[in-house]
Amino acid sequence: MASLQASCTVLSTNPHSLSSSSTQPLSAKPSHLITHSRRSHRFQVSCDAKKNVETSQGKIDRRNMLLGLGGMYGAANLVANPSAYADPVQAPDFTKCGDAFDVATGAALNAKCCPPLADKIIDYKLPRFDALRMRPAAHKASKEQVAKYELAIKKMRELDTKDPEDPRGFMQQANIHCAYCNGAHDQVGFKDLDIQVHNSWLFFPFHRWYLYFYERILGSLIGDPTFALPFWNWDNPKGMTLPPIFDKEKSPLYDTKRDQELIRSPGVVDLTFSGSTDPLQLVANNLTSIYSEMVRSVSTTTDFMGKPYCAGSSPSPGPGSSENGSHTGIHWWVGTKDPSGPNKFNENMGNFYSAGRDPSFYCHHSNVDRMWTIWREVVKTDVPKDITSVNYLNAEFLFYDENKQLVRVKAGDCYDQRKLGYDYDRVDLPWLNYRPPKKAVRAKVSNISNAKTAASLLPINLKKTVRVIVPKSAKGKADEQLVLQDIQTDTTKVIKFDVFINDEDDNIEELDRAEYAGSFAQIPHKSKNKEGKANISLRLTSLYEDIDIADDDTVVVTIVPRSNGQDVTIGGIKIIPVPAQKSG
Ligand code: C2O
Repeated sequence: MASLQASCTVLSTNPHSLSSSSTQPLSAKPSHLITHSRRSHRFQVSCDAKKNVETSQGKIDRRNMLLGLGGMYGAANLVANPSAYADPVQAPDFTKCGDAFDVATGAALNAKCCPPLADKIIDYKLPRFDALRMRPAAHKASKEQVAKYELAIKKMRELDTKDPEDPRGFMQQANIHCAYCNGAHDQVGFKDLDIQVHNSWLFFPFHRWYLYFYERILGSLIGDPTFALPFWNWDNPKGMTLPPIFDKEKSPLYDTKRDQELIRSPGVVDLTFSGSTDPLQLVANNLTSIYSEMVRSVSTTTDFMGKPYCAGSSPSPGPGSSENGSHTGIHWWVGTKDPSGPNKFNENMGNFYSAGRDPSFYCHHSNVDRMWTIWREVVKTDVPKDITSVNYLNAEFLFYDENKQLVRVKAGDCYDQRKLGYDYDRVDLPWLNYRPPKKAVRAKVSNISNAKTAASLLPINLKKTVRVIVPKSAKGKADEQLVLQDIQTDTTKVIKFDVFINDEDDNIEELDRAEYAGSFAQIPHKSKNKEGKANISLRLTSLYEDIDIADDDTVVVTIVPRSNGQDVTIGGIKIIPVPAQKSG
């Protein structure tokens, strides 16, 4: 079987094997072609490159280039010049910063997200740190830590009035998120193709660097280089409420646009959009979802990290499991949800253009970042932890440091948080072994009413719950994954759906069941160009054991919409073997 390379380049050591053994339909869209051939060596094209590419030979249209070479089966010839095919996403050109989109009105934000310009850009060198900045859990932070945090945010807010162009100011820092998420920056060399740091493998490294500089700026504003950003410990029941430090109206950490009512009653975070009002059920759902996105549903490195995204790629090829899961859940839960009120677009937290305006964003993302650390350092799995493709390692971002210097950083330089001078206080991980109980009686496909074959349903719209019969790829104790392809959504809406296998019970408020396979979710955002269709894969290996269906030929996949299902279509659904594990 071909190894699933998490790369944007075309790699093949044996071009002839491709045409003779690929079982995939010929597609003009490279991103959707993943061959699973028994004989080919290594071949994958993962980034959907659509626009003109500037190469030493001048401009070439990538797609024509491929088709001109005989479609995808000729693509292996490109090995001669793989760098012409895909490159890492480059740092944006701030002098060309344009309008970002306000999702609420649909209007351009008139460059309001654009950062100030700088005379020069320096390649960032990590300083030597005398001591690690230890990030505490927000609900356990000491009085002194909270006082420092409040003072630092107060000073940051004051910069907004002193000098709105100071890149360390509160709104300037918030706008970084807007600019990298809502279309202000084009990809260098690809006019009108946005830089989007979500829904791909850029998600973790972008946010890690973003918080790094944010934390350093806060520290320098209060003259304390040991200042460490607290993390919202939402993966532990003790942290599954809004941290009390954010709930004081007079505090600089307060944000008036949070959904205060929903936050206070019943109080427990609903990471999974379950709608349950039972606090115990909410805790169980949250732990189930985190276990799924950290352990159970992950087959490959990019399942966790996010799908490959390179120079020339359409934005949003597919989110990683953690981004897609509890990360999105918190954004949605904190953002105001009153559909008739002035904040019907979930600002601040529930919308990318405004999320950085709520101080809880950085505390939330501190935990998102911590989950990456825990996945790398604690979670035991056969999945390689780090992406090794240069298209990932050399992807670049720009930030202002604490001295107002514009610096360039690379995605591959932030794998180890200790090299960045910080680490996390260790706390219990109650989700780590939260495997759902095995089914006592195995569910029979025939007991599940009104399931139809995929062929009769595609493309699937999620206006209501859908049940699809999908063939397994093998009998026995198969190591398989469910792939949902070409997921297309209205990106200005909050989207969430859950996936179950052979689910007879249909109790949608309870996720802590063996049949739960995983989810898809999205925070509203908008870009100039059309986004790519996303793919996600959900590993089924331990689920098969838990519902005891090793001997079956088919399963019934139930897809339950939780939010705006009418705005979701799924273009393909299949079960395939988990690809051979190679580092990405
Ligand atoms: Cu950049 Cu949580 O989003």
